Amino acid sequence: MNLFINLKNSLTSFLIALLCFFVLHPVSQGRAGGHESAEDVQFSELAIAGEPLYLHYCAHCHGVSGEGDGFNAENLDKDPAELSDNAFVSKKTNDRLFRVISEGGRAVKKSYLMPVFGQTLSEKEIWSLVAYIRLLAEDKQHSVTLPENTKSARPMIPPETGESLREFMQWFENEGSGGGLVKVGESLFRDKLACFACHSVADEGGRVGPELTRAGYLYKPEWLYVWIKNPQHAKPKTRMPNLGVKEDQARALVAYLESLKGQSGDEEEEEGEEGEDAEPIVLDEWKTYLETKGDALAGEKLFFDLEGTANCAKCHTVKGEGGRIGPNLSLVGTSRTQEFLLESILNPKAVITVGYSSILILTKEGKFLTGIKINEDDQSLDIMDKEGKPLHIEKSLVKKFKTQKISIMPGNFKDILSEEEIKNLLAYLTRLTLPQLGN
Ligand code: HEC
Ligand code: HEC
Ligand code: HEC
Repeated sequence: MNLFINLKNSLTSFLIALLCFFVLHPVSQGRAGGHESAEDVQFSELAIAGEPLYLHYCAHCHGVSGEGDGFNAENLDKDPAELSDNAFVSKKTNDRLFRVISEGGRAVKKSYLMPVFGQTLSEKEIWSLVAYIRLLAEDKQHSVTLPENTKSARPMIPPETGESLREFMQWFENEGSGGGLVKVGESLFRDKLACFACHSVADEGGRVGPELTRAGYLYKPEWLYVWIKNPQHAKPKTRMPNLGVKEDQARALVAYLESLKGQSGDEEEEEGEEGEDAEPIVLDEWKTYLETKGDALAGEKLFFDLEGTANCAKCHTVKGEGGRIGPNLSLVGTSRTQEFLLESILNPKAVITVGYSSILILTKEGKFLTGIKINEDDQSLDIMDKEGKPLHIEKSLVKKFKTQKISIMPGNFKDILSEEEIKNLLAYLTRLTLPQLGN
């Protein structure tokens, strides 16, 4: 079993137990027990490689152990398949499993809510997911080995060039809000491309990615365009797969998302109860911050001054420099509107960046711990505290825990920084743009 000793993963014990089971009851027929065949070894190796991929890309819908009960499952109109169900999985061929993961539900006449992963993961990675599913389902009738010429490199989708980006921006300015397109984009978003499986709009839809009800206030069109076409280029480890969105689809999606300014369905009617959420992002009292431009150089100095009042770099990295408690801000001038940046500084809890929710843990000893949730599995929680210190906590020692709607980012910058300092910071952040756009 030394093969497995180095495994240091959430489900390790579960995996080892299952793998032992497989090795003792070999998948390949017709040989007297004892040694593992080359085929068994390859199968185990694939399944081991499949586990982290599964936890990263699949578990939010299919559940950590494949029971179809991931945290996002309740938001979907169609239940995610139960991948631990032996009867269900053993009926499918390896090729069929490969195809649905690679090309998505629609390619096999199943729900569009099952996304396409073949534009994100390598063929080898998809085969390792097939092996991992066999393991989850304890399906011993099918072994998985790599077909000849399997590619082990991920698909390389080139980033937008400065030229194509400028062309898009020109187009958006002239025609981007054209009426018909918004409808086309909405239908792509809700019914065709699985976006709705992971994102909610006005309280309907998935919860894997950020809510997009206010996308038109928060994101610049050029960022939506580069993000939708190639999320892995913007953020290699994002859980959002590349959905193979075509040029005209990307444009329609941007037109739709830019039309979302925060109001839910029937604006007037719901004014009362939705009032708080539907409020325009920039409150009147904040407008003065946007009226004149600050000094970007002074903003940069303040951002990185670890002795200063702002201390932003303690938590944020820009172009390789700074802390890791908060999100990397290197491209934030392209990805976020001025209004969003201002809101992030003055009222950080209004939008919590995906992956940075804070959780509050009460241990059985009666101690409270708080930090950003890095990872959770059946047995344990990993968090990072305000100082950036990682903490690993066994769930057996935890009484209860919950996600909080507060940010780890201090909420008092409005009081401790002058209006001028905030304008300077804003001017600096605005300069942090995609390299294709110069600067
Ligand atoms: C956003 C939610 C979501 C994510 C993420 C997701 N799935 Fe699914 N998956 C579904 C839904 C919903 C179905 C059910 C489709 C149906 O029955 O029409 C499904 C079905 C399946 C099926 C069965 C298809 C069939 O032939 O009936 C497999 C296999 C599968 N998913 C594997 C995966 C793998 C592997 C991943 C991660 C790489 C993954 N899924 C990620 C939602 C998701
Ligand atoms: C399997 C789930 C999944 C699917 C499907 C999905 N997304 Fe996402 N999306 C995410 C996650 C997770 C993030 C958060 C990104 C991050 O920071 O890693 C995200 C982020 C975003 C963002 C915000 C980017 C930013 O800068 O913060 C937008 C806009 C977006 N997605 C649009 C879409 C659109 C449009 C589609 C359909 C074409 C789509 N998503 C499909 C999971 C998904
Ligand atoms: C103690 C750590 C900490 C400090 C100090 C801090 N931040 Fe943050 N910041 C965070 C965390 C964590 C998030 C993500 C959670 C959230 O959205 O509120 C965040 C989010 C942001 C965002 C939104 C990013 C996005 O893409 O959604 C911006 C912009 C930002 N911070 C700017 C600043 C600036 C400017 C300063 C200095 C004045 C600062 N932060 C100081 C921790 C910090």
